Amino acid sequence: MLSLSHLHKAYREPDARPVLQDVNLELHPGEYIAIVGESGSGKSTLLNLVAGLELPDSGKILLDNRDLTTLDDGARTRLRRSRMGFVFQAFLLLPHLTVLDNAALSLKLNGVAHREAQQRAHAMLEAVGLSGLVHRFPGTLSGGESQRVAIARALAHRPQVVLADEPTGNLDPGSAGQVLALLREQIRSCNSIGILVTHSMAAAASADRCYRLDGGVLRPE
Ligand SMILES: Nc1ncnc2c1ncn2[C@@H]1O[C@H](COP(=O)(O)OP(=O)(O)OP(=O)(O)O)[C@@H](O)[C@H]1O
Ligand SMILES: [Mg+2]
Repeated sequence: MLSLSHLHKAYREPDARPVLQDVNLELHPGEYIAIVGESGSGKSTLLNLVAGLELPDSGKILLDNRDLTTLDDGARTRLRRSRMGFVFQAFLLLPHLTVLDNAALSLKLNGVAHREAQQRAHAMLEAVGLSGLVHRFPGTLSGGESQRVAIARALAHRPQVVLADEPTGNLDPGSAGQVLALLREQIRSCNSIGILVTHSMAAAASADRCYRLDGGVLRPE
């Protein structure tokens, strides 16, 4: 189970309001939610906290009763690597690795042998419609193709928690629908917890429930 309780986060800018105020959320395996909110409302910040990429000012983030906020950097990184898949808003593909090696990265980091990692990464790339591009490098891909590689990489190791930050922002409606269906299907088949952050109400509708971040407060939509 993933449980966020009384999360607060502010950046130390002069006059800045807190980005997140008393955010509470409880998610069980198989639950898939969407979070919508205006630009700057703190959606990416919230995902970064859940992933342990940033720390809250106060509050707890429990994954199976372990509080991420009390772990040291190394333990947080190991937990993120093994249990989470993050589709970043800015893709963050590694430019010197091929599409296939990018997609295999999460498996390799979790100790999966080279051949099996490549086979599983290839299957994920096929599922996102990129089997023809496996030997290309990220610098040669379109925005939408890069986004689909990022999704394949995030899902390849079948993570317990899937965090997707605007994963269809660069896709045409047809590809967006395919990617959303794939996310949903993976979350369901792995019984994962899924959090989809998006501006699009159509994308949000692909999740089971929707929340809105507004003024730092998270409410059911
Ligand atoms: N490292 C940082 N230092 C200072 N302020 C930051 C930092 N990161 C984010 N912020 C601020 O926190 C607020 C929330 O940012 P965040 O990226 O979480 O918004 P968002 O909801 O993801 O927006 P978008 O929909 O545009 O991606 C914004 O006002 C942003 O300027
Ligand atoms: Mg964002």
